[in-house]
Amino acid sequence: MVYVWFCDNFQLIIITIVFSLLYYLYYKKYRFYVFRQKDEAPNPNKPRGKCPPFYPNGWYRLLNSDQLNINEVKHFDYCGRNVVIFRGTNSKVYALDAFCSHMGANLGKGGIVKNKSCIQCPFHGWVFDGETGNCVVSSESLAKKQVDQFEYHDIKEATKVDGNYLYKCYSGNVNLKKYHARELNGTILVWFDSREEFQDNIPYEPFDLNVKLDYRGESINYVNCHIQEIPENGADIRHFDFLHTRLFTFTSLIQFEWKMLSHRAAEEDLYEVMKHKHEFINEFKTKILKTFINESNKKYINVISLDSYVKIFGWKFFLFNATGFQLGPALVYLFLKSKLFEVTFAQSITPLKKFNIRVSHRIYANSYLPYFVSAFMLFSEVQQLISDMLIWNNKIFGSKLSYNLKTEADKNLISWRNWYAGFYEGCNEFEKKQEALDW
Ligand code: FES
Ligand SMILES: [Fe+2]
Repeated sequence: MVYVWFCDNFQLIIITIVFSLLYYLYYKKYRFYVFRQKDEAPNPNKPRGKCPPFYPNGWYRLLNSDQLNINEVKHFDYCGRNVVIFRGTNSKVYALDAFCSHMGANLGKGGIVKNKSCIQCPFHGWVFDGETGNCVVSSESLAKKQVDQFEYHDIKEATKVDGNYLYKCYSGNVNLKKYHARELNGTILVWFDSREEFQDNIPYEPFDLNVKLDYRGESINYVNCHIQEIPENGADIRHFDFLHTRLFTFTSLIQFEWKMLSHRAAEEDLYEVMKHKHEFINEFKTKILKTFINESNKKYINVISLDSYVKIFGWKFFLFNATGFQLGPALVYLFLKSKLFEVTFAQSITPLKKFNIRVSHRIYANSYLPYFVSAFMLFSEVQQLISDMLIWNNKIFGSKLSYNLKTEADKNLISWRNWYAGFYEGCNEFEKKQEALDW
């Protein structure tokens, strides 16, 4: 009986198996969808306008966790700093100034991880502790090394004093500047602050997404503009309906429509302003606002709410709402909520150099969401980013702007700029000093 049924339906069974297999392969293909744009050096001759400092104070994402194994050492020269990053045998990530206090070798190029938390210079073997930055006698004892420091009287003019060009300027212990690093959500972040008083006194932490969602992939793009252009775009309500309406480049019959709000988290009416007309979104939004905003970090957060609609042949459908947190100058977390899914985007912007910014989006989705759906969402995000990039790569930084104060959009932009400018405190002085060191 079964045999007869099998023979009668043989073709159907084969077709079903083949299609299931193809579907499965297609499904798996987008499991970790990664979009990587080629980095191109910025054109130095392009006009850029009068800009604020280039590396505002904040948390910066330097690399992903899977790019740094135990005992691995890397050098980064992002954000105007030179930093060695390494993972000790205790699995912890450490970040120190890259240049050895002995004779200036780069610890990030050939340095060796020693014991739990130390790194050894590749030139003469001096050892530095990642926990403190101290130069130590050995990675076991961690006793501080005693050194004498010498300096030129005048390095440029070769000036002699008492028959010597050099003089002893210090005796005692030395250390390399230690940067605070955090490993969260599969990424490694480092605190860069130009001000001495905030080196160890960090005013807010990056978010621990602690997500129940699956990591689904990442997009990496490079933009040639001032860092502020990118987060400012997230607060620029008006440009969404102007620049971001196309879902596909080949047709205008399917279009996006947006409704956006942007508000500083420290404002008292935040919850009122963010109230959503759909109860299930309201509940979700209130929950995440409460989870991530607290008394100590609210000053450093700008909250965004974005309703997304799709218009097909004139009919409008609600797609999702996104609640976004701009945390400090270089991190954005976007929580998308619809009846069908939850998706989180973690965006980070990292200035590799002035006017050369790496923008990354990592996407996390419900485990039941098909891989190609999350891949398509990341792809759509990249499409929207590419529309912005055409503007950013060619614009000047507007230091003097003409606003239309009859519109909420422009009023919001002024208030947003006032908020973001706080991240530049102390940076100009620091950047000038860095440039003086570069001669
Ligand atoms: S330069 Fe680092 S030990 Fe000599
Ligand atoms: Fe945009």
